[in-house]
Amino acid sequence: MKKHILVATDGSETAGKAIDLAAELAAKFDVPLTIGHILHFGRPPEELAHMARVEHLVESVREKSGADFPNVPGNIMKLFDDSRPGDNAVRIITLIGDEILKRGADRAKELGVDQVSTRSGQGDTADTILDMAEDVGADMIVVGHRGLGRVRRMVMGSVAQKVVQQAECTVISVR
Ligand SMILES: Nc1ncnc2c1ncn2[C@@H]1O[C@H](COP(=O)(O)OP(=O)(O)OP(=O)(O)O)[C@@H](O)[C@H]1O
Ligand SMILES: [Mg+2]
Repeated sequence: MKKHILVATDGSETAGKAIDLAAELAAKFDVPLTIGHILHFGRPPEELAHMARVEHLVESVREKSGADFPNVPGNIMKLFDDSRPGDNAVRIITLIGDEILKRGADRAKELGVDQVSTRSGQGDTADTILDMAEDVGADMIVVGHRGLGRVRRMVMGSVAQKVVQQAECTVISVR
């Protein structure tokens, strides 16, 4: 019997599958579900551009924030090209994170989970996911096998690998 499930999402399609499975399990076990996202500070701008194409996420954030960056994803690349993100980049990364979490929570509720909460964090992605799991008392972590990285390969993504290797609880990696 599980007590609390944490699912980690970077907004990718595979992470969406992880949310679906985690939500189905949480609904079945009738346990709380936490959806966690580590903000994309310092990540390659290509990842955000990829996300924009996958889900039109950036477009909807643009509408909400009133931020002026037409021609997504071309401009989002420029926005994040600096080694130190400016105020606008920080604001947009934060808004994207909020939107990813909101969509995950909506989906989990749709799948019948009663207790859904969200958390965002900053820092090394895998370490922060592991800390979150401990914080919320999760005894299961669900991640996607792949994420927003563009490299086509058979091996598991680096975040998923580290979480699987270092977690103290059960980890499910969804394909
Ligand atoms: N920023 C993040 N916040 C929350 N969860 C994440 C984040 N990044 C990755 N994950 C989790 O890890 C899973 C696998 O993503 P991962 O980053 O390991 O693969 P990748 O992006 O394909 O490869 P890499 O990042 O090594 O280039 C995602 O589906 C998601 O569940
Ligand atoms: Mg990744």
